[in-house]
Amino acid sequence: MRIVLVGPPGAGKGTQAAYLAENLSIPHISTGDLFRANISQGTRLGQKAQEYMRAGQLVPDEVTIGMAKDRMEQPDAAGGFLLDGFPRNLSQAEALDDILREAGVTLDAVLDLEVPEDEVVKRIAGRRMCRNDSGHIFHVQYSPPRTEGVCDVCGGELYQREDDHEDTVRKRLEVYHTETEPIIDYYKAQGLVVTISALGKVAEVTARAMEALGRGP
Ligand code: AP5
Ligand code: ZN
Repeated sequence: MRIVLVGPPGAGKGTQAAYLAENLSIPHISTGDLFRANISQGTRLGQKAQEYMRAGQLVPDEVTIGMAKDRMEQPDAAGGFLLDGFPRNLSQAEALDDILREAGVTLDAVLDLEVPEDEVVKRIAGRRMCRNDSGHIFHVQYSPPRTEGVCDVCGGELYQREDDHEDTVRKRLEVYHTETEPIIDYYKAQGLVVTISALGKVAEVTARAMEALGRGP
């Protein structure tokens, strides 16, 4: 399957993507994670992305589209993928259409995670990420690690993302409404959008998502 996951910052895209990718046996491709990996490795791409991410703005398309395309062309993505955080504006959506057309494949669904704004603010404020694996995501209140500051899965150090501070979060939400939300209508016109509520327990949301994708029990 080829799926695009869309939803505001803090909706739970990364959390759900880890489970959905496993259930569907497809790689999870997150442009945010790719940027963060480049930043921690000190690459030129990472240096370029960091200033935009710190400000809560989109990294320019000329950097993002090439990086996403390279990742989608890796052998493990030949049979399908779950895109998380890409596309994020209309020109990226059009670029993705070109990439898919060139490869002779199509999207199966665009899964839209709906969460009220006050809830995403709470989710982001308490989020803690593992330094070793971006799929290990915790929340100080909703899914606390057994030992404070330590990843339950791998023992890695937990940290708060640099762009998870209040001012930046507000900017990210604004960018989501102005730049990313229009892609939902773009995909609605193609009949691809399935919208689900991302409220409730993580496992409940995963079950809802699998059902919406036609892969329920
Ligand atoms: P990115 O990394 O994509 O961040 P985002 O879209 O803002 O989304 P988040 O990672 O903040 O949230 P999420 O929805 O994954 O939530 P999570 O599962 O962690 O992008 C970061 C930046 O990179 C952008 O601002 C931009 O600068 C740049 N960028 C990335 N892609 C780009 C692109 N295509 N073009 C240009 N720039 C790009 O969950 C959040 C918290 O909630 C966690 O603590 C979790 O434990 C908790 N939680 C999850 N589910 C539940 C639940 N059901 N109940 C209670 N708590 C829950
Ligand atoms: Zn970990």
